[in-house]
Amino acid sequence: MNGQPRNPAIEKILFDEDAIRRRVAELAGEIVEDYKDGDFAADREGRPLLLVCILRGALIFTADLARAIKMPVEYDLISVSSYRNGTAPGAVRLTKDLERPIAGRDVMIVEDIIDTGYTIEYLKRNLAARSPASLRVCTLIDKVPRRKVPMKIDYVGFPLKEDAFVIGYGMDYAELYRNLPYIGSLSPQYMK
Ligand code: PRP
Repeated sequence: MNGQPRNPAIEKILFDEDAIRRRVAELAGEIVEDYKDGDFAADREGRPLLLVCILRGALIFTADLARAIKMPVEYDLISVSSYRNGTAPGAVRLTKDLERPIAGRDVMIVEDIIDTGYTIEYLKRNLAARSPASLRVCTLIDKVPRRKVPMKIDYVGFPLKEDAFVIGYGMDYAELYRNLPYIGSLSPQYMK
């Protein structure tokens, strides 16, 4: 673990710092390959790819991904809230919007984890309505077995088959553990 003591709340390390760094670099390489020549619906005004970071979980992934992408990018931040204990499953609302319009831009939504898919479905619909030139999705973790809304995810860091509660590298339990530099599963005894 790169000399770092393991947090006692971690049941199992799923992806350590080296694995994350390597995979982020690979994803960044794929993104550069796909966008560098404007293969698809490139922004005709020559504006760079716009990364849309979904607060708050994707903050750390977006920061690392943006720095690994060796071509110009911009980023903006958006925040949504899901009603996990509410009446309608999958209901999502916008709590902080983007700073600028995205019409005509190449846009990539950056997520830390896609679980049921409700959040990304809402965001794709919301952003597509603003007429971007293109809209793609990059997620670090794709929790495939939990998906309720089938959809194509353009860039996936790690597909995760096990139904673990994932924390670290931006992901939280009750707002804790976001600053762990690796990704692990939360030990059940630490869940309240
Ligand atoms: C997490 C994650 C995604 C969403 C995925 O966010 O960052 O946005 O859940 O879940 P879904 O596919 O089931 O919709 P969360 O609501 O925990 O907020 P956070 O990003 O602030 O941690």
